[in-house]
Amino acid sequence: MNVDKGYVDAPIDEHLDLRSEILRLKQERNAVIMAHYYQRQEIQELADHIGDSLALAQLAAKTDAQVIVLCGVHFMGETAKILCPDKTVIVPDLSAGCSLADSCPADEFEAFVKAHPGHTVVSYVNTNAAVKALTDVVVTSSNAKQIVESLPEDEPIIFGPDRNLGNYINSITGRKMLLWDGACHVHEQFSVQKLMDLRKQHRDARVLVHPECPKPIRLVADKVGSTQALLNYAIDNDAREFIVCTESGILFQMQRQCPDKTFIPAPPEDGTCACNECNFMKLITIEKLYNSLRYMQPTIEVDPAIAERAVRPIERMLDISKQLGIIK
Ligand code: 13P
Ligand code: SF4
Repeated sequence: MNVDKGYVDAPIDEHLDLRSEILRLKQERNAVIMAHYYQRQEIQELADHIGDSLALAQLAAKTDAQVIVLCGVHFMGETAKILCPDKTVIVPDLSAGCSLADSCPADEFEAFVKAHPGHTVVSYVNTNAAVKALTDVVVTSSNAKQIVESLPEDEPIIFGPDRNLGNYINSITGRKMLLWDGACHVHEQFSVQKLMDLRKQHRDARVLVHPECPKPIRLVADKVGSTQALLNYAIDNDAREFIVCTESGILFQMQRQCPDKTFIPAPPEDGTCACNECNFMKLITIEKLYNSLRYMQPTIEVDPAIAERAVRPIERMLDISKQLGIIK
């Protein structure tokens, strides 16, 4: 089977009802479909579980299914595989990468860590397995603040790879973590000017911002949080309108869970687009999902020596998150 392009490149009978075929194959393979909030609407509709990075890692660790089809980006599939080495983990298009993870090559990060001995290494989950293997504790945007705060106050910390999330955590915890200089191309793209213009047009709207956004955008926010935290805020808050500064896939869940409220995507700096999409997340299509279940490819593989080291900081994250009541 040809997976040279990163996905199964096989013809599909145009008369097939792909949705029911996917559900049928899922049963047959004892598979579970997990999707991140940034996935296309049709993928979210087919998923057994939809969540943020923390929820997806936790669900992977807990599932009884033999096959995990992770509709998200590569590092999410890798995290699932590291937690479940005996399961088959499929990401329907392996070229669904992450610019933030790519901004932190393992060899350069290792040199950075070696140049600053005596530091605890805290890494965002948006990293590849080799970077996690160099890490003491992994965090996501749902638990970064609490996990950093759980470390002794005078502990020197290296935080990678997202300078924006790192800056944000420094500002709300008073820590002085040493930051790796990485960023996400999607969250760095929002325009402060366009956001201020939108705010003037929608004076009662609340502004929801993911912490991967730079400080000038965060300063306009009513709520800064992970995709799950932003969704929860939208559900619980009495406002009728929300301006959303994160990848636009989350708007589908917001609208689904709050049908009477209005969600307005914040636009990027460049071009005429009204919303900001992660090109990597959008690589997962219903056709690739169908073919991946049909041929059980492409699978995620992680070098066992790296996985053995990378699993510890991920499990530590899950343990601390449970102790702190962030997850059950
Ligand atoms: P969450 O942890 O909020 O799901 O974010 C993951 C991500 O890739 C944000 O760009
Ligand atoms: Fe990575 Fe940014 Fe896409 Fe999230 S939105 S997966 S951080 S490139």
